[in-house]
Amino acid sequence: MTERFDGQYAPDLQREHQKFIVDLGGWARSHSCGQLTRSDAGADVCLMGWVQFRRDHGGLIFIDLRDFGGLTQVVFSPDIAPVAHENAHILRAEYVLAVRGKVRPRPEGMVNPNMPTGEIEVVVHDWKLYNTSKTPPFPIEERCEAGENLRLAWRYLDLRRPRMQANLRLRHRVVQAVRCHLDEGGFVEVETPVLTKSTPEGARDFLVPSRLNPGEFYALPQSPQLFKQLLMVAGLDRYFQIVRCFRDEDLRADRQPEFTQVDIEMSFVDEARVMTMAEGLMARIFKDVMGRVIPLPFPRMRWNEAMSRYGVDKPDTRFGLELVDLTEVTRNSGFKLFAQAQLVKAMKVPGGAVLSRKEIDDLLEFVKNYGAQGLAWIKFKPGEWQSPIVKFLSDIERKHIAEMLDVRDEDIVFFQAGDPSMVNAALGNLRVHLAARLNLIPENTFNFLWVTDFPLYEYDETEKRYVACHHPFTSPDSESLEMMTSDPSKARARAYDIVLNGNEIGGGSIRIHSADVQRRMFQALGFSPESADSRFGFLLRALEQGAPPHGGIALGLDRIVMLLSGASSIREVIAFPKTQKASCLLTDAPSGVSSAQLRELGLRLRETASGA
Ligand code: AMO
Repeated sequence: MTERFDGQYAPDLQREHQKFIVDLGGWARSHSCGQLTRSDAGADVCLMGWVQFRRDHGGLIFIDLRDFGGLTQVVFSPDIAPVAHENAHILRAEYVLAVRGKVRPRPEGMVNPNMPTGEIEVVVHDWKLYNTSKTPPFPIEERCEAGENLRLAWRYLDLRRPRMQANLRLRHRVVQAVRCHLDEGGFVEVETPVLTKSTPEGARDFLVPSRLNPGEFYALPQSPQLFKQLLMVAGLDRYFQIVRCFRDEDLRADRQPEFTQVDIEMSFVDEARVMTMAEGLMARIFKDVMGRVIPLPFPRMRWNEAMSRYGVDKPDTRFGLELVDLTEVTRNSGFKLFAQAQLVKAMKVPGGAVLSRKEIDDLLEFVKNYGAQGLAWIKFKPGEWQSPIVKFLSDIERKHIAEMLDVRDEDIVFFQAGDPSMVNAALGNLRVHLAARLNLIPENTFNFLWVTDFPLYEYDETEKRYVACHHPFTSPDSESLEMMTSDPSKARARAYDIVLNGNEIGGGSIRIHSADVQRRMFQALGFSPESADSRFGFLLRALEQGAPPHGGIALGLDRIVMLLSGASSIREVIAFPKTQKASCLLTDAPSGVSSAQLRELGLRLRETASGA
């Protein structure tokens, strides 16, 4: 600062202060704000960053200067540099500046052991103002009280917070570990088109109208599934891509409309090869990024067993609360709901008898989200079973329940009866919900699990037809080839999911590489030969041109980084995510377009709401 202030400020300080802004002025940063320690005492340094905090103290002005590396205390002293000190009165939160000065140990009693730079301060000799800032809509601090929408609307300010900086840097390190590991393993990174044809991964497509082909649309890829298979036909042998995928589906904490996959495909491999490769990749990520050795191989569980013991196909194995099937022992129950149900399951919560009526009512509301209408329970108190349903149960039923669930005094058991998918979803999700509420989940534990032997198809009640459980390019196992059309519900897929702490972090399969089998698959899914040809003719033709046996996997990068960072939503590890309503609050996307643009694309909007 060369010009001197007189200490009188116009009401609009920020605008007034702008006249003091200079450019870099040839100054070069010598250190980051997180770097200096006692051993640097006496050094002449130049730091650049933002004002985190300013306080005036007995003639001295102190500033915490922040950059990507951390905070450094900077002191403006009237005795050492009077002009620099006088001018520093203009500094406000988030102003951008450079300081030159000398590092000195902090005086006795001023040391801050909680800060890496807490033993030193920089005494300023000279400084430059690079920019002013309006008062930010929320303070830039590690802990942020602002609501998520405000944070998203001002995302670049939110990203200045150390937590968010750390998340993005963690993500970068994961990506680097992935690239190094796969490169060393002989994988080739290949980019595939973003403007493409629909690939069915179970979600709705995002469509892009083609100006040059009026009335025709590209689909944004739900995944590069077919292109990676074509690369195997092309002889690439080992492919990977860190790739953006687009799915128009209902959003949740672990779902975004655009997200990133580590997409992998290999030729001449079976399930074991792909799974071993994915385990090695996860181990490398944990070692490089977290300095942590994870035990290999990961445990494996068949889909049937996962559904039976945990009610979901992505079990969190960090805690117990396993489900027990009581269908057989309640077949003749006096409790009609049990007697008539296709499936009756129970879950014991040790010590859960302390739950109040109100707490149990809240759990009932929770399971209603999964289609349950009620939630039966029994509290095991010394010498008595407390429950609205106990009077309907025979002695023999009680004996079975007590034995099969191994109940003790002060336990509670929850029951769910009815349609199997509802029973499993309700109890499976209640299991996770209760474990979190009752603090049953050990911290800092990473439990991997492979889930294998998925069904090839699942029945879609709304469409009244079978749909592929993974995607239609997944190979049936050798015993299921015949069943593809004769008994689809029994056919098994050569598919595998990788689960970490109850989150599906990846999925893959061995693919169909015979055109005949692929045609049978399309037939089983209800495609006529003509519609299969018009949608997937390019794939069928490629499979007829010497396609090698191949398989692969895609890992959900956002979910992996979320779990490593300890965040509870993937939005925390994506620089510019969308809201639950798929909008970007920062740029206001999506937004309307001009009628000229629509005309050019050959499109006209239907009247909205009342006119539609
Ligand atoms: P799948 O559909 O299982 O497989 O996707 C692979 C992984 O991607 C992650 N994922 C998502 N992450 C964030 N937001 C979403 N909306 C979202 N959807 C999926 C999950 C999931 O496990 N082509 C196949 C892979 C293959 O067969 O090789 C595929 O896309 O972590």
